Amino acid sequence: MRENTIVLGIETSCDETSASVVKDGKIVMSNVIYSQINIHKEFGGVVPEIASRNHIEAIGNVVKEALFKADVTLDDIDVVAATYGPGLVGALLVGLSYGKALAYGKAVPFVGVNHIEGHISANYLDSDFEPPFICLIASGGHSHIVFVKDYGQYEVLGRTMDDAAGEAFDKVARALGLGYPGGPKIDEISKSGDPYRYNFPKSFMEKDNFDFSFSGLKTAVINQLHKERQNGIEINVADYAASFQMNVVDVLSSKLIEAAKFKNIKKISIAGGVASNSLLRERLKKLADEEGFVIHFPKQVYCTDNGAMIASAGYFDFIRGKVSGLDLNAVPYLKLF
Ligand code: KG4
Ligand code: ZN
Repeated sequence: MRENTIVLGIETSCDETSASVVKDGKIVMSNVIYSQINIHKEFGGVVPEIASRNHIEAIGNVVKEALFKADVTLDDIDVVAATYGPGLVGALLVGLSYGKALAYGKAVPFVGVNHIEGHISANYLDSDFEPPFICLIASGGHSHIVFVKDYGQYEVLGRTMDDAAGEAFDKVARALGLGYPGGPKIDEISKSGDPYRYNFPKSFMEKDNFDFSFSGLKTAVINQLHKERQNGIEINVADYAASFQMNVVDVLSSKLIEAAKFKNIKKISIAGGVASNSLLRERLKKLADEEGFVIHFPKQVYCTDNGAMIASAGYFDFIRGKVSGLDLNAVPYLKLF
């Protein structure tokens, strides 16, 4: 494997403008994240046009800061990597165009990165964790269980049929009046709630089915809320949040463990924004210990969208010979393969 390849990774697929300098796919030299959450929260979710405009305003300074913090200049960058999908098309185009222009200007290779592959690659950052492993990716836009056979080699074992796990967190939080983004708010308030108060339904729980569905759960929570409100019952937000969260954690953790058993792989990991969830981490740690599995948790800052995971995925693509043309377009509905 080549040593000392320095990749600049750029991520703008949703509401984080991020740039990072990573050495050899693992060593994070800098990771600058400008989050637009404060701008979007008053709308209760990400407004695509506003996101694109803010990426344009932020990208230059974010990249400059990433170079500065890594103590490098553009002349030290060997490869530029940027997310080209999936995500919001206008948002993607900002980072993608910026990355391609930098690569062209400095005459270095450009690699377009699949955002989902980026989330998986967060597992390699500041770590010696390596494939093969089974990975649960649960974010605002995606929920997958993937067999990572080797770098860049994936077999999707299951995916969501409707809402992504993070989307369910956000929608339920909104119904509970907790604001955006819902995941961290539900995580926090659940600590003071009773997770056994409500027994909401779980989907696709039959053996060897690794697909998910969260829209029935979301509807069940909203229906129960309406019923209680109509009957004048005082809503205990913490109990709702805790019962909902436990349902999602039960489903995600049991499916990840079952998928690992199904494939006879003893290494598991998680990725994506929902992987920051404290109950999910606690539960998986316990289950992995019981099963004798090795479990790897990326640092929380590498779970939500960031440039470092994109630089890592770009590095492993590059050393396998992948270089993208400068005509690469954004692909909003890009699949893992
Ligand atoms: O990976 P990410 O930053 O962006 C996408 O690619 O979608 O994930 C954002 C999602 C949001 O839905 C957010 O509510 C959720 O991750 N999230 C969490 C937590 N922190 C972020 N969900 C549950 N618990 C958390 N602690
Ligand atoms: Zn993401």
